Amino acid sequence: MPWTRSDELLDELEERLVEVRRDLHKYPELGFEEHRTQALLRAWLQEFGYEPRDCAGTGLVADLEPETGSQLPAIALRADIDALPIQEVSDLPYRSEHAGVAHKCGHDGHAAVMLGVAAALASMRGQLSRRVRLLFQPAEEGVKGGGGQVMVAEGALEGVSEVYGMHNWPGFPFGELRIAPGPVMAEEHTILLRLDGKGGHASQPQTCRDPVAAIAQMVTALNSITSRGMGHVGGAVLSISCIQAGDTHNVIPGFASLEGTLRCFDENLRDRLLERVREVVAGVASAMQVEADLQLERGFPILHNDKACAEHVRVAAERRLGADRVSAEGLPLVASEDFSYLAQAVPGAYFFMGAGREGRETPSCHHPEFDFDDELIPIAARVFLEVVRERCP
Ligand code: NI
Repeated sequence: MPWTRSDELLDELEERLVEVRRDLHKYPELGFEEHRTQALLRAWLQEFGYEPRDCAGTGLVADLEPETGSQLPAIALRADIDALPIQEVSDLPYRSEHAGVAHKCGHDGHAAVMLGVAAALASMRGQLSRRVRLLFQPAEEGVKGGGGQVMVAEGALEGVSEVYGMHNWPGFPFGELRIAPGPVMAEEHTILLRLDGKGGHASQPQTCRDPVAAIAQMVTALNSITSRGMGHVGGAVLSISCIQAGDTHNVIPGFASLEGTLRCFDENLRDRLLERVREVVAGVASAMQVEADLQLERGFPILHNDKACAEHVRVAAERRLGADRVSAEGLPLVASEDFSYLAQAVPGAYFFMGAGREGRETPSCHHPEFDFDDELIPIAARVFLEVVRERCP
């Protein structure tokens, strides 16, 4: 049973992988600035016989060829490696040394998982019937655009027929895996709206065109697009999360602005929702006699899991974790993720590893107190290895 060797290797490497994860945690880097991270990953990959090449600036692509030549196209496994612009609130011994930057989404853990996969796979070349490509992707958090799109543009998926990715998820029970075909994460649009009216003395509103009254109407009207309209069709969320207007109690300001987010799981619904946002903004602005400047900024696209790829993950995960620990419960998630660009380029599947501990509150991803759960490293690595095994008949 040669594949069991990979389990032994992961057991042997577990302590080192935890050390690496904590080292990455201590020295987090933002998107496209992951220079130290890249050097650390490169050194590890070289130690296990890989010849990684740079991609998307601070990312890496590492191929493992089967011992015997194969005609099958390669499969790719992807880990994201960047941190967030968040100040860490923690007394962890390995807390972030970089002010205002921290691994608050667990990409330090995702990178460590993939290093474990790399090491175990390198010893399994004799069992591979196709090339396996490991992708270490920078800039998932979208601080300066998405690294996934850049990796695809730079050819990271050339010769690859399917791609797999994973995210830890404190909202799901620890050690459980969630996978589903179809849309699993949302497309996001940022709404930026400025309303220009006419300011003046607050005692004389008849001489003004009040942008404060207009922005209040705007929030109610925009919220009604989903709550009173299309929210039930395929799922959509619209939230206005920021309003700015005025400076004091007796002055009607000249302008007001708001920001919000629109998310959905269906391209047709998305087009109609964006149309409704434009209609509502124009209508309310006209009624309230203010000028509207609306910008809709598109974020990452909808993440669609390929049906066959999702099934491969489900089968592999059930074999590894047991059928009672694998389900589609809780999907899709309304968060967004730039793995969607990879899954647009070739069929792919993205799964979630539960990280929520029973009996205590586990901070969610992006929370200042979040920390990746090290015990997930060998579990997630074994699932990835099992997916490779499933695809190497
Ligand atoms: Ni993340």
